[in-house]
Amino acid sequence: MAEAQLQDFPSLFSLEGKVAVVTGGSRGLGLSAASALLQAGASKVFISSRKAAACDAACATLNALPNLRPGARAISVPADSATLEGVKHLLALVARETDHVDILLANAGATWGEAFDTHPDGAFAKVMDLNVRGVFNLIREFAPLLQKRASVDDPSRVVITASVAGLGVGTLGKQGTYGYSASKAAVLHLGRNLAVELGPRGITVNSICPGFFPSKMSNGLLEMAGGVAELGRANPMRRLGKSEDIAGVIVYLTSRAGSHVNGAAIEIDGGALWQRGQLDVKL
Ligand SMILES: NC(=O)c1ccc[n+]([C@@H]2O[C@H](COP(=O)([O-])OP(=O)(O)OC[C@H]3O[C@@H](n4cnc5c(N)ncnc54)[C@H](OP(=O)(O)O)[C@@H]3O)[C@@H](O)[C@H]2O)c1
Repeated sequence: MAEAQLQDFPSLFSLEGKVAVVTGGSRGLGLSAASALLQAGASKVFISSRKAAACDAACATLNALPNLRPGARAISVPADSATLEGVKHLLALVARETDHVDILLANAGATWGEAFDTHPDGAFAKVMDLNVRGVFNLIREFAPLLQKRASVDDPSRVVITASVAGLGVGTLGKQGTYGYSASKAAVLHLGRNLAVELGPRGITVNSICPGFFPSKMSNGLLEMAGGVAELGRANPMRRLGKSEDIAGVIVYLTSRAGSHVNGAAIEIDGGALWQRGQLDVKL
């Protein structure tokens, strides 16, 4: 019964010694993910966002976590991932400290809410630049470092933070998020393309699709939609997302446990997306 003999089960979800880069890591979902990577054993986690002070503060918080491995640390690497120059700058900062990267979280994102009739061209472009073009630039520029230690048995990982707004219709009306929803649909499909392109180079590419998680980005929309308590009650699981929900999926996708998952998009929304599609007619 060879099937019962799992190879080194205790290490299945371990990230012992891994080197990771997290864009948008200074707060919100990216900070939860970075914390998970470090607590699962990563040795270096690079925290990137535009504001240096925010990256420094996030690193100070992460480095003060009580259960890190000896020598493990978060390193502040401020950069703008919306531009190619910014991505190249980020790569140069990371390359000063390591000759390889095992895990890349393309998490930085932006949104814009405005009615259809007045939805500005500039806002649409800004959202696309960071959420799609920036993600492509980031993965392409980091591919050589990701390939350095990648192997069939232990592939390097890319995880894109997309959204359920890229699977279903986003917010419509006064605070319409047309560009955002389109950008998340685009980046999900980019992820599938890159999964097939980069798989043979030993790199998996997967996406996560969070539903509502309270954060600086979502708080305005959350209030407009009725607030945390009401939206939580409306969710099939009777709550909104929290840090541990991101942490669990990120560790799964980036550890040995997730090494054969490639081109996937994992919803983390308590099932709310499918509730929207609930049929009124019961058969
Ligand atoms: N919260 C939700 O409900 C939810 C749901 C689905 C998907 N998401 C996705 O999750 C990701 C993180 O969002 P969040 O909710 O955690 O938002 P957040 O708290 O506002 O965090 C956004 C992060 O991205 C950074 N950032 C923004 N523009 C950047 C740029 N041009 N270059 C580099 N970093 C930049 C921000 O720092 P700086 O301001 O210092 O640059 C910050 O660290 C996004 O991709 C978002 O679309 C969120």
